[in-house]
Amino acid sequence: MDRRKISSFIGLIPVLLVVFFAVCSSANAQYQPNWNSIDSRPLPAWYDQSKFGIFIHWGVFSVPSFSSEWFWEDWKGSNPHPDIVKFMEDNYRPDFTYADFAASFRAEFFDPNQWADILKASGAKYVVLTSKHHEGFTNWPSKYSWNWNSMDVGPKRNLVGDLAAAVRNRTDIHFGLYHSLYEWFNPLYLQDKANNFTTQEYCEKVLWPELMEIVNTFEPDVLWSDGDWEAPDTYWNSTEFLAWLYNSSPVKDKVVTNDRWGSGDMCKHGGVYTCGDRFSPGTLQKHKWENCMTIDKVSWGFRRNAPLADYLDMDDLIELLASTVSCNGNLLMNIGPTADGRIVPIFEERLRSMGDWLKVNGEAIFETRPWRAQNDTVTEGIWYTNKTTATYAIVLDWPADNQLVLSVPIPSSQTSLFMLGYNQPLKWSGIASKPGITVTMPQFTPDTLPCEWAWVIKMKMVQ
Ligand SMILES: *[C@@H]1O[C@H](CO)[C@@H](O)[C@H](O)[C@H]1NC(C)=O
Ligand SMILES: *[C@@H]1O[C@H](CO)[C@@H](O)[C@H](O)[C@H]1NC(C)=O
Ligand SMILES: *[C@@H]1O[C@H](CO)[C@@H](O)[C@H](O)[C@H]1NC(C)=O
Ligand SMILES: *[C@@H]1O[C@H](CO)[C@@H](O)[C@H](O)[C@H]1NC(C)=O
Ligand SMILES: *[C@@H]1O[C@H](CO)[C@@H](O)[C@H](O)[C@H]1NC(C)=O
Repeated sequence: MDRRKISSFIGLIPVLLVVFFAVCSSANAQYQPNWNSIDSRPLPAWYDQSKFGIFIHWGVFSVPSFSSEWFWEDWKGSNPHPDIVKFMEDNYRPDFTYADFAASFRAEFFDPNQWADILKASGAKYVVLTSKHHEGFTNWPSKYSWNWNSMDVGPKRNLVGDLAAAVRNRTDIHFGLYHSLYEWFNPLYLQDKANNFTTQEYCEKVLWPELMEIVNTFEPDVLWSDGDWEAPDTYWNSTEFLAWLYNSSPVKDKVVTNDRWGSGDMCKHGGVYTCGDRFSPGTLQKHKWENCMTIDKVSWGFRRNAPLADYLDMDDLIELLASTVSCNGNLLMNIGPTADGRIVPIFEERLRSMGDWLKVNGEAIFETRPWRAQNDTVTEGIWYTNKTTATYAIVLDWPADNQLVLSVPIPSSQTSLFMLGYNQPLKWSGIASKPGITVTMPQFTPDTLPCEWAWVIKMKMVQ
């Protein structure tokens, strides 16, 4: 990393900190910098209604696109992975550094309009792009990441700004940003760490100004924090930052955050609970949560050598969407674009297929609430959701004898049942006021089936 620009930003720091402090100490501010106050903020309504978002992991790690987005740490960190060490020995000159990869992050095929159109076709209501991963490379021209950002090296473009503009111009998808608190190899961070986090040089010179920069510049609807676990939130000054974000930032009313704000905070504090990667409890969670997961089962960043078997298929993805939404979660489904700026066909196909399924069945997903039961107690693979006008059963497996047993709903004499994408009422049997409905599934030919992968029974007037 080139330190030439360091002097130009040091001059700005006192100004930024004054702003930061002034806002936080204001006595009549709605939110105070402590967890009791921060945790009391109601979640902006758009987020729960949205249910489905797309996560995008893109950075310098997309250049080697081997192993995972943790490539640098897994190569040069405390526990080097032999496969990565060998990959570098076999393919690169001996003095090649991770920073040398950045020149090959060219994004020459990056067409933000095309990305926006694919995201829209997926049916997702929000997108979360890595503004900066643990490698520290910023995908926007940060004033605080000297020569380690997408304008100075590699793409020579404002990747965050360009995607934000396209998404906002062409879709009504909420635009969000992922941001890593720590940076594996930032010398300022490593010094603070060596001082047992009793100093905050890195926070003052990089973290706080950078967080304010992305919030003020891009006004993200989601600020998805990560990389918090090595230090307590008192080192990151997370509650002070969140008080500013919720009280005075340009996104104070709409922004949604998560729970990764310091070691021990996950699943306890902040906005939406992620409780870890790929959290998928299968039971109702009281606090709004998000299942952040990857289509490529083993990596968030693109992997050139991933075989087909490593990608979740549509049955897997629909099952995760259904179970997550039934249990009060949102699904945040990750894709990893290539260093040259493409969303490769396997990801594009999964995104468009999700959209095809949601076009028919989105009524059972978007703006629903958890029902009194999440899945059926007898028939496997049935997940329930609820709305003012109906209750929905998402059926993952077509019953072998065409008779579908729903053991939980209680019918009445006014009950009527439908399948989404099919206009006629369904035949069913059951006893009024007693749990249990047996649905006779309609006869379809392959070309009249309303959708692939899973079917939704819409139930009116059931309890
Ligand atoms: C927004 O989209 C319209 C039509 O799709 C296009 O003409 C216009 O240039 C776009 N504006 C920006 C800022 O991208
Ligand atoms: C940090 O903590 C460790 C373990 O408690 C201690 O050995 C070390 O001296 C401390 N370092 C500093 C700089 O305080
Ligand atoms: C960081 O937190 C400490 C302890 O609460 C506080 O004294 C300090 O003012 C905070 N710094 C900023 C920039 O908010
Ligand atoms: C319902 O979901 C729970 C939790 O995921 C699971 O343990 C149970 O087996 C499911 N019930 C059926 C009938 O599949
Ligand atoms: C389903 O939603 C309706 C409308 O909000 C509500 O009246 C009903 O109590 C809900 N049912 C359950 C079991 O949650």
